[in-house]
Amino acid sequence: MDLITKAPKGTADLTPAQTAKWRWAERTLISEAELNGFAEIRVPAFEHTELFQRGMGDVTDVVEKQMYTFEDKAGRSVTLRPEGTAGVVRAMLENGLYNAGYPVKLYYNMPCYRYEKPQAGRMREFRTFGVEMFGAAEPAADAQLIAMALSAFRRMGLHDVGLQLNSIGCAACRKEYHQALKGYFSARKEGLCPTCLSRLDKNPMRILDCKSPDCQVIAAGAPKITDYLCEDCKAHFGQVQACLTALGIEFTLDSGLVRGLDYYTRTVFEFPSKSLGFALGGGGRYDGLVEQIGGSPTPALGFGLGMDRLMLALEEQKVEFPEPVKAEVFIAAMGDEAQIKALSLVNALHTCGVPADCDVCGRGLKAQMKYAGKIGAKYSLVLGGDELAAGKAQLKRMSDGTTREISIGGSFI
Ligand code: HAM
Repeated sequence: MDLITKAPKGTADLTPAQTAKWRWAERTLISEAELNGFAEIRVPAFEHTELFQRGMGDVTDVVEKQMYTFEDKAGRSVTLRPEGTAGVVRAMLENGLYNAGYPVKLYYNMPCYRYEKPQAGRMREFRTFGVEMFGAAEPAADAQLIAMALSAFRRMGLHDVGLQLNSIGCAACRKEYHQALKGYFSARKEGLCPTCLSRLDKNPMRILDCKSPDCQVIAAGAPKITDYLCEDCKAHFGQVQACLTALGIEFTLDSGLVRGLDYYTRTVFEFPSKSLGFALGGGGRYDGLVEQIGGSPTPALGFGLGMDRLMLALEEQKVEFPEPVKAEVFIAAMGDEAQIKALSLVNALHTCGVPADCDVCGRGLKAQMKYAGKIGAKYSLVLGGDELAAGKAQLKRMSDGTTREISIGGSFI
């Protein structure tokens, strides 16, 4: 019975008390993105498996261990999106959004799926708010994206979010760095976990974000990418930092920050929550991904925020959420005829944009008034035979009980 009465492990329902808070946070993020010229894109919840393998890198934890991959009835391999970026790049290319000119600025708010061990802030179905910008190579774009996320955190009243920053260079500087990493880790093979051993030749940078404590100790002494950056990457990173400093944004340089996906180039960043002890989001540049997915070489960058984690941080910081909209007017009715009148009055109020409600559960008058109090109605109106005959009723202010006679005659619909 548990199977149908309990949500699957790693998933969560959002009840109305929660969705009101989520919608407020989502509206803040959307308004911040739109202020910065981003427009919403929606993409499918599943894509061809190759898109994620090619986009995120087939030697990554997400692709190797965490994807919900299955064959559809025609035998095609499809995967529930484990993140937003690859699908958005595909959609940007397929729909020719670049034809309108660069930069193309897109945002999205979508559930993603990763088969992970559930714990605080780690779900199998989680929601991501993300932005992607295409065609912008300048360091100012990196700073704009980061500033936008930090501004949204501030507007929500979150003041404990930091910024960790690094540059992981381009393909050219990465070549020499990979050699250095291979040399370093090969000399310490005995201490590495089996997954890292298998990654040593193919993708040594992934060893840097292995979660095994033994590998982390070894990785702490590994060569740093920042010592291998080419002149262009160094200059780009310097300018990103200059832009952030000019915007008054504090950051911590973390040469060990490499992110867990293969598409990143140059700037990478994360937003750690000090109170929760993990990142609310992260992102960076991915100047090679558009070409890898079949487009022309196009500089690009973006970030993803974990909405579940953001909501945890807002609760932890005791941020005050605005009260959800309550019914302005509740119309209590006694009898069938009064019920029809109540419905038509409620309908008329709705056409004027006034939140209003009436009883649909067959309650008695006392219970209807109790319900009006429960839903926080500011005004109530009682309709019975006398009111219908007179075409008038008493509008009562619930806070102090004062009443005012109003006309209920005529047709409202
Ligand atoms: P990511 O760091 O893998 O990056 O995920 C982005 C954010 O999603 C994380 O910082 C975290 O808040 C949230 N997240 C990830 N996995 C889970 C999970 N299992 N449960 C709850 N929250 C989770 C990306 O996915 C990139 N696509 C971000 C990006 C966009 N880079 C460039 N553009």
